Amino acid sequence: MSAQVQSARKTVRDIAAAKNGTPLVCLTAYTAPMPALLDDKCDLILVGDSVGMVVHGLPTTVGVTLDMMILHGQAVMRASKKAFVVVDMPFGSYEASPEQAFHNAARIMMEVGCQAVKLESGEYAAATVRYLVERGIPVMAHVGLRPQATNVDGGFKAKGRTEAERNRAISEAVAVDQAGCFAMVIEGVAEDFAAQLTKQVSCPTVGIGASATCDGQILVTDDLLGMFDWTPRFVRRYADLRSEIAQAVDGYAADVRARRFPGEKETYTLKKQP
Ligand code: KIV
Repeated sequence: MSAQVQSARKTVRDIAAAKNGTPLVCLTAYTAPMPALLDDKCDLILVGDSVGMVVHGLPTTVGVTLDMMILHGQAVMRASKKAFVVVDMPFGSYEASPEQAFHNAARIMMEVGCQAVKLESGEYAAATVRYLVERGIPVMAHVGLRPQATNVDGGFKAKGRTEAERNRAISEAVAVDQAGCFAMVIEGVAEDFAAQLTKQVSCPTVGIGASATCDGQILVTDDLLGMFDWTPRFVRRYADLRSEIAQAVDGYAADVRARRFPGEKETYTLKKQP
């Protein structure tokens, strides 16, 4: 039974095979209802540490903990059967050493049952990527704009404005690619640079704010659904759920105040038992 479920789910091979092929469709999810809707429509679901900002109202992803990621990862895994599920390693859970990263990544893999972890990847992270992959943990890398480095960068800043910045990002991408990551998120870079990075690495690249030249795309699902009054420039809104929710709640409030809700249809009429 569990072998059947396993075989229906996409594997790391399916994701890695997308290099130069049909672009990978990737989205975020943090709770059970969402993956139930996304699961057979996308290739990869990321339980991103963006959960800190989207669900918990944190100003950045820096305050997200390992326990939060595990809890949200478990909820997503319970409701998904087909997509490849990746869980973000949060700030402070992997940077100190490959051993620290393995200890925490193993917790994620064992307690969540996901297929891989993702970590934001400066050049130093190459040793960690290799260490994890050699020990059985598939790693998705994340280069370019790294939200967990927002305190060093002084905000969420697009990368590759200068030659030095581009050279650094190329070194980072090549290092983690050679270390064995199966795919790589490229965030916040210009189109020509995304194309250059995509050409230079052997694994598929998944862009966010990085143009259609990447081997796939990822967005925060709540952004594309229009849940916020502000979204970054690189987001396309495919729905306006914020307005729909406001309208629904206005309707409910008006009905409650006018005693129109609950009506006959929503009210129990239980036969009295003798
Ligand atoms: O945390 C996140 O959601 C991400 C993205 C790539 C969207 O890292």
